[in-house]
Amino acid sequence: MSNIMMLFEPYSLSGLRLGNRIVRAATYEKMADDDGRVTDRLVELYEELARGGSGLLITGFALVHPSGRAGPKMLSAHAESYIERLKELTDAVHREGGLIALQLVHGGRQCPPLLLGGEQAIAPSEMYDRFTRSNSRAMTEAEIWTVIEAFGDAAWRARSAGFDAVELHGAHGYLISSFLSPYTNRRDDYWGGDEERRSHFAEEVLKSVRSAVGGNYPVIMKVNADDLMEGGITPEESLRQVRRLEQQGLDAVEISGGMKDSRVRTIRPDIHRAEDEAYFKDSGKLFKDALNIPVILTGGMRSRGVMEGVLERGEADLVGMSRPLIREPDLPNLMRDGKERADCISCNKCTRFNKMDYVHCVQLKG
Ligand SMILES: Cc1cc2nc3c(=O)[nH]c(=O)nc-3n(C[C@H](O)[C@H](O)[C@H](O)COP(=O)(O)O)c2cc1C
Ligand code: SF4
Repeated sequence: MSNIMMLFEPYSLSGLRLGNRIVRAATYEKMADDDGRVTDRLVELYEELARGGSGLLITGFALVHPSGRAGPKMLSAHAESYIERLKELTDAVHREGGLIALQLVHGGRQCPPLLLGGEQAIAPSEMYDRFTRSNSRAMTEAEIWTVIEAFGDAAWRARSAGFDAVELHGAHGYLISSFLSPYTNRRDDYWGGDEERRSHFAEEVLKSVRSAVGGNYPVIMKVNADDLMEGGITPEESLRQVRRLEQQGLDAVEISGGMKDSRVRTIRPDIHRAEDEAYFKDSGKLFKDALNIPVILTGGMRSRGVMEGVLERGEADLVGMSRPLIREPDLPNLMRDGKERADCISCNKCTRFNKMDYVHCVQLKG
């Protein structure tokens, strides 16, 4: 079988039939309205993405509870009244023949207090965050269970709105990730203190989501295979945590890394050579060799040859892209027709959220 065949071969993810191995990784677009409702602009973007040929689209992060708002104009699924507009999004994608998963998040310590009505951000432990320039507050037992339940309720809403899957955002220093990480979880109770206890929050969220959506519905989790910081999670520890989640019914894992404080960034700039691409591929291999569930590898995928190599060497089952699809939503179709490399130059100007009304490729629109 040729390499090209592999990238563009169909793939079954827990019964969900993807047309190819390319996933649009979650990308916050800053295109929802001020309350987090789907806008016409967002529907149009997803129609374009669906026509563009990705096997699965994962939305930008969507809020599960008002205490976890991580960005202005982010999507929300924290109340029943959001279902109707979310359904317009899934209907539009399905009309174009695409599949769509809703990414669910609680922002935890990385939420700017300005977006929380001046309240302190909540997290496993009290800690200073140099990006929000504020201290998070340690969650009470009652708050922890409220958020766990909120994940379940939001997942139920996602299913009701017609999403084909949900992805739990367990990466990048947001709440689930900050419970998993020894750097941000300094508790000494059921929720932290050793590796197993640090996993409990993610496990309880998964249980809550599973009981809300039922057995026959794909639940994916994006994790940090590496926090990329001193005292943070390592690929070996992350793998042990994901194995526990796999035993509890997780359907697939997406590999990423880093948090806002890390020495190396999640969204790495200046990817110019093939060696710079697929920057979590060693973790991909580690995870794939040890797990039975599908592994999605995201981070720096730019050229068809590299993606084909990743699949061929067993470093992933599926490949995720964010920035290249901001610039070229139809990149999968272009690659299927022979394009070798994405136009995205990894300048990261599309991540200057404060300077932009909505996320777009600055190289295209000046
Ligand atoms: C503008 C922008 C918004 C992003 N928003 C999210 C998000 O909502 N959830 C998430 O898990 N990752 C988010 N990411 C990270 C990407 O999913 C991905 O992990 C990272 O950009 C590396 O992949 P890439 O090299 O293909 O861009 C975002 C990235 C960008 C550039
Ligand atoms: S602004 Fe455009 S070229 Fe630069 S990283 Fe974003 S999508 Fe890529």
